[in-house]
Amino acid sequence: MTKYPSMDKEIFLPAEQFFEQTKPTGLTFDDISLATRYSDVLPSDANLGTQLSENISLNLPILSSDMDTVTESEMAIAMALCGGLGILHYNMSKRQQLKEVTRVKYHVHGLIQDPITITADKLIGDVLGLIDQKGFQFRTFPIVEDNGKLLGLLPGRVVKHRYRSRKVTDGMLARNEVYTVKQTDIGEDPIQTADRFFSEHMGIHKLLVVDDNDKLCGLYTLSDIERIIGEAGNHLKPARDHNFRLLCGAAVSIPRLEDGKINQDELIQHVGEMVQQGLNLVAVSTAHGHTQGVGDATKILRKEFANLTIMAGNVTSGEGVEFLGDCGADIIKVGQGPGSICTTRIVAGVGIPQMSALYAASCKAKKKGLSIVADGGITKSGDIVKALTLTDGVICGSLLAGCKEAPGRIIEIEGKYYKQYRGMGSLEAMRDGSAARYGHSAKDVGAKSAAEGIEALKEVAGSVTETINLLAGGIRSGMGYLGASNLSELKSNARYVRVTPAGQKESSPHDVIEIKNSEFSRS
Ligand code: XMP
Repeated sequence: MTKYPSMDKEIFLPAEQFFEQTKPTGLTFDDISLATRYSDVLPSDANLGTQLSENISLNLPILSSDMDTVTESEMAIAMALCGGLGILHYNMSKRQQLKEVTRVKYHVHGLIQDPITITADKLIGDVLGLIDQKGFQFRTFPIVEDNGKLLGLLPGRVVKHRYRSRKVTDGMLARNEVYTVKQTDIGEDPIQTADRFFSEHMGIHKLLVVDDNDKLCGLYTLSDIERIIGEAGNHLKPARDHNFRLLCGAAVSIPRLEDGKINQDELIQHVGEMVQQGLNLVAVSTAHGHTQGVGDATKILRKEFANLTIMAGNVTSGEGVEFLGDCGADIIKVGQGPGSICTTRIVAGVGIPQMSALYAASCKAKKKGLSIVADGGITKSGDIVKALTLTDGVICGSLLAGCKEAPGRIIEIEGKYYKQYRGMGSLEAMRDGSAARYGHSAKDVGAKSAAEGIEALKEVAGSVTETINLLAGGIRSGMGYLGASNLSELKSNARYVRVTPAGQKESSPHDVIEIKNSEFSRS
């Protein structure tokens, strides 16, 4: 290993020295650069895994923002499949948000341990109603007796409107026609067991699991197993819970009673319903998290849901991190005003440039054993690398808002395609439900309140997988340059320099005409 020359030590400083020396100036991503370090790490070998809480570890330290033009179930599924996490927004009815959670949790998993069943007294029309009400993406249901004993299997091909008045038992495969495996015969690797079964039983798509009394206790589907086996070759591994379901987060607003007090019952009931569907993380998501309201809501949730991962925010100070941690949050969101669609700093004159905010937050988080995530202002993978030198993950809005999985409408302008992307503090978004996030009541929007976000457009990008692959590639490069084989080494190896405006200019392509058409550049 090369000797570390003493001059380097004076120019390239570790976080404590660097931010101490630059205080009280607020610095953001482009104000700093990271120094390279001796490395024996190939970017492709870098491990991007991060542990956000006792129950949540991700294979990719990226979360999609809880914004109504970024994260609904399609985005959350895509993010979890890439190893990250989607946080569903709350600008929708509670019933709809519950449906969105269900969609993510029932997306693809190997052994479904608590399959949705129906009883023999139901009609096909009842089943269609259930599918519609719960937003299920599947149509095949085991039929059980009241005591849970397996009676048969209702195949998706008969769950049709034309049969709505027929009994489910008329269309079911009887018990002796259904393939089952005993729970005790599954062995150590449930996926391998199912994979072997489906290879040996050509054309069979469902395998049910029963106990010694023939009570149903699980279900495998061929498509899930094929997807999971296929994923084994991916370099980005999906983020799954212990039941092999995709991880899912959801943001909640703080419901209030007429007298302004928190409506505890409503908050607990809604979060409880989502937890029952398998929700892994709840985010108390506001513009100002160092407040009594966010603290009290966090305490209520912590008391009621001892094992649920709670994220709360946003803050930009060590005090804010400590406060929310003491209220019971596991993960604190850091960022006030850095977002691409934010106008908080202009409207309210408030906010801290993101790298300085992350540093202040990280000092306290380290002492308290809390996780922090950088929320907002990330425009390129290099920003993510910088943020990860101080945090456990990043939240992206604008980088994902153009992806096909984002919910925004596609608009064509002069032959180019765009998606709508709006701040949750924009007037329109606040009218649709996010006013409480900014401390306003819905009826004040446009009167007593000022918008803290804008409505904008993002050029349509490809899929989340394509975008995430580029971002993950950038993070891996950064880790390779810093000799970091994992995110903890990235933190300890980080050395910072201050960048001047001339340095910023030098950091981007300059003095050339960039060729964007790769076909042309290859010819
Ligand atoms: P990016 O830069 O990724 O930022 O687009 C997304 C983050 O910005 C926050 N956010 C807002 N902040 N006014 C604000 O001041 C807004 O209207 C607004 N909407 C979103 C939020 O933290 C998000 O994750």
